[in-house]
Amino acid sequence: MITNNPFYNKDILSSDQYTKKNLEVIVGVINEMKSLVEKQGSTDILKGKVITALFYEPSSRTFASFITAIQRLGGGFIPLQGVTYSSVSKGESLEDTVRTFACYSDAIIIRHPEVGSAKRAAVASPVPVINAGDGVGEHPTQSLLDYFTIIQRFGKINGLTITMVGDLLNGRTIHSLIKLVSLYSSVKINLVSPEILMLPDVIKAKVKQRRVKIFETDRLEKVIGSSDVIYVTRVQKERFSDLNLYEKLKHLYILTPEALKKAKKSAIVMHPLPRVGEITEAVDKDKRAVYIKEQMRNGMYARMALLSMVLRK
Ligand code: NCD
Repeated sequence: MITNNPFYNKDILSSDQYTKKNLEVIVGVINEMKSLVEKQGSTDILKGKVITALFYEPSSRTFASFITAIQRLGGGFIPLQGVTYSSVSKGESLEDTVRTFACYSDAIIIRHPEVGSAKRAAVASPVPVINAGDGVGEHPTQSLLDYFTIIQRFGKINGLTITMVGDLLNGRTIHSLIKLVSLYSSVKINLVSPEILMLPDVIKAKVKQRRVKIFETDRLEKVIGSSDVIYVTRVQKERFSDLNLYEKLKHLYILTPEALKKAKKSAIVMHPLPRVGEITEAVDKDKRAVYIKEQMRNGMYARMALLSMVLRK
């Protein structure tokens, strides 16, 4: 039992649902999950619960870390990855598919190519729905693990300079993370992208409304030296109708050991992964790189925490 559990029986659809207060509670639970896994590997607090993972889009980390999280909590799961083998290929609507799995399970985790699909699923579903990525919309479980990774290293968000690099237009991890970190009004955010991949205006307006300082540039070298967090993203090929344009944009920013020489010793380099050349493998050895170990491992702990809170009082 978690006192004042803010997420019990709730859908998790957007970073808009996070507040400083509920983040404090969930960070506590993530830490508990981390020590639990380190001490005993698994528990049985979700014994008797079954969760559907309904993935209409490719995924490695989000899918696998959710499945592992369920297993480490002792729950059962229905894994649907590549819905070609389900009735979706017969033309079934998202709503009907969701209603079906709600009959068999206690929660549904969904990834789908359309913005707003998780919300639609939540409207149709009598059981809680967790958004694991809705097109170019949001990815609120990724933002949670990203937040935890930053907190783990710095213990705070206020006072940090967070630089987000790459496809800020289509990157749902960026959309969710920026909404989350801008809850802390003395964070400073640098947005590095070519003009065509700039952060959508609606999100920018939200951040500015919170009086958070944003600096936009198309040159990473301008801001790398003052950054505490360097969050690199992939140009989202699957969102481009013009592949020639994608080819022109995909490697505008490549983080190399040479480029990192200008960064602070205390900085961290993050990436939601997969990377397709934006960070060279030589950077992996740098102590500042946290995308392989910390971020991925934290994904499992964060999802364990969230599932345990959604499914248990
Ligand atoms: C991200 C996603 O799917 O949005 N990956 C992930 O969940 N770790 C980022 C990406 O695909 O570029």
